[in-house]
Amino acid sequence: MAKLNDGESKTKILGAQNHVETQEEEEVVLEAAIDTWKYVLGYVEMAAVKCAIELGISEAMENHGQPITLSELSTSLDCSPSSLHRIMRLLVHQKLFKETISPEDQTKYYSLTPITRLLKNHDHSMAALVLLESSPVMLAPWHALSGRVRDEGRAAFEATHGESLWDYNAKHPKHSKLVNDAMASNARIVLPVVLKGRAEVFEGIGTVVDVGGGNGSALQTMIKAFPWIKGINFDLPHVVAAAPEIAGVEHVGGSMLEFVPKADAAFVMNVLHDWGDEECITILRKCREAVPKDKGKVIMVEAVIKEEKHEIDDEKEEKLKGLRLMMDMVMMAHTTTGKERTQQEWEYVVTQAGFTKCIVKPIQAIPSIIIAYP
Ligand SMILES: C[S@@+](CC[C@H](N)C(=O)[O-])C[C@H]1O[C@@H](n2cnc3c(N)ncnc32)[C@H](O)[C@@H]1O
Repeated sequence: MAKLNDGESKTKILGAQNHVETQEEEEVVLEAAIDTWKYVLGYVEMAAVKCAIELGISEAMENHGQPITLSELSTSLDCSPSSLHRIMRLLVHQKLFKETISPEDQTKYYSLTPITRLLKNHDHSMAALVLLESSPVMLAPWHALSGRVRDEGRAAFEATHGESLWDYNAKHPKHSKLVNDAMASNARIVLPVVLKGRAEVFEGIGTVVDVGGGNGSALQTMIKAFPWIKGINFDLPHVVAAAPEIAGVEHVGGSMLEFVPKADAAFVMNVLHDWGDEECITILRKCREAVPKDKGKVIMVEAVIKEEKHEIDDEKEEKLKGLRLMMDMVMMAHTTTGKERTQQEWEYVVTQAGFTKCIVKPIQAIPSIIIAYP
């Protein structure tokens, strides 16, 4: 082989390296471009799921009682088979519905999966949550998120709708119902996990005030599990005015920033994350004043963000951490000062509110149980 002189060999090696790097770079860029489409089309899954809920696809499948063909489904829903086929093709691909093909005549049959079972109308449905978060009112503030990040004082919901979510709800009963229905469906799913995993938390309690309790669904589930408990559902006047009557529950209207009705224990679920530290401390103080000093407690059901990487050791926890971080973005988009908190941040607000002890009990869900003792 002919020996290359110094200049020649450098050029060849450099050339070869450049070539390899370019190829690798090209692959990295192509891969990144494919991954980036996830963000370009991020809204499509939510929109298709919302469409499936509005059409009542899960209910039609459930009512059919066995795997259903496209033509049966389109007849039952009274909609165009070709458009329905396109929606189903995507949702099957995303594993939201199951598709089986008959070996005899190649007919396709659709059936429900555990996820789409949660999207049909029943007590443990999550459909109301999808309908709320995909509503134009809740989607619009996301366009003001960067403004909120640049300037803490420019709350995204206010910048979009001119007032806070709670003031907006007071004037828009239809949207208020959407919020209350969504919160109630979440409460019906989370509360059994709270009660099952940590029933001892509720031992010895005769009366509970649910602070920011929405339409009373959490108390209803609690009383079903512990029938001796008397409940006070405390929320804004327009919310309790629209709440259904529930045996064993008294609805009381007012503002938790001003007072909290007295009870053996105060229960606060998905409420404190709607508020900044200052309001949070005020609400917690009112809760502390509402329960007996010697044996009272405040039971919070709120997310605790884990910041350290090494704290996460399993796949489910990693998934839950991602959801909690997304909930933090929801707080940024939909509330004025709200945020999800780390354990240290919880300890800070609880201590500032005058409590002497605080215990965090994790459960298999987005929130944990945080108990504060006066
Ligand atoms: C995110 S929702 C949670 C509802 C319920 N705790 C649940 O988890 O299903 C927050 C609740 O706080 C209520 N809320 C907002 N401001 C309030 C105030 N100043 N006093 C009492 N409740 C308030 C809202 O009306 C709403 O029902």
